[in-house]
Amino acid sequence: MKLTLKIWRQKNADAKGQIVEYPIDGIEGDMSFLEMLDILNEDLITKGEEPVAFDHDCREGICGMCSLHINGEPHGPDKGITTCQLHMRMFKDGDTIFIEPFRANAFPVIKDLVVDRSSFDRIQHAGGFISVNTSGNTIDANAIPINKHDADEAFEAATCIGCGACVASCKNSSAMLFVSAKVSQFALLPQGKIEATERVLNMVKQMDEEGFGNCTNTGACEVECPKGISLENIARMNREYLSASLKG
Ligand code: SF4
Ligand code: FES
Repeated sequence: MKLTLKIWRQKNADAKGQIVEYPIDGIEGDMSFLEMLDILNEDLITKGEEPVAFDHDCREGICGMCSLHINGEPHGPDKGITTCQLHMRMFKDGDTIFIEPFRANAFPVIKDLVVDRSSFDRIQHAGGFISVNTSGNTIDANAIPINKHDADEAFEAATCIGCGACVASCKNSSAMLFVSAKVSQFALLPQGKIEATERVLNMVKQMDEEGFGNCTNTGACEVECPKGISLENIARMNREYLSASLKG
């Protein structure tokens, strides 16, 4: 396949970025999108040019690092997958592909296609954990009975990989789907109920401080989420938040 890539290039966080055009040839349908970018970068390095910076780690849909806006969609045109799982067979010979970083005030561009998503880490640090007494009297987590429905829902919420596609797809740059998945995975389990009040209040407070927008229920986040995280988590977080606020 012969393709034209239009890629966002930006030297650093303070520089003004721009779209730069790169023709590329010899791309096979069974190559991954990131392999295609590797080929482009090898070519740029051979020519003595600066390679395109992009995030990646596991390359198998687990870590949430790969974060590209491809032809206007976070993680590209395929559904239920991350950028690293996207294959070039989704494109055809002669296509032009626009590749940009995830856009949100709370995700500033560091370089080219790499954005700073440490705002997600700070939200997690504000409450996305449980405290366990490790003084020698710990109870085996498996000894606590949990009904199957709650266990399944908690597991579904826990599959969120923190990629940020929900934010990038939202016209308000809202992080509600991400935060609600992190709140839900604990709120549904007995181990998470002990700190539930502080958790939801602190995580939502941190989310607001990071500059994410408000949720207006457009549902774009659910459509673009590679892990199928449901909007039901947002409803659950709103209930948790209301009940925590009433408790003071
Ligand atoms: S909710 Fe989905 S889109 Fe948002 S960070 Fe988690 S996995 Fe990514
Ligand atoms: S590189 Fe880990 S999810 Fe894509």
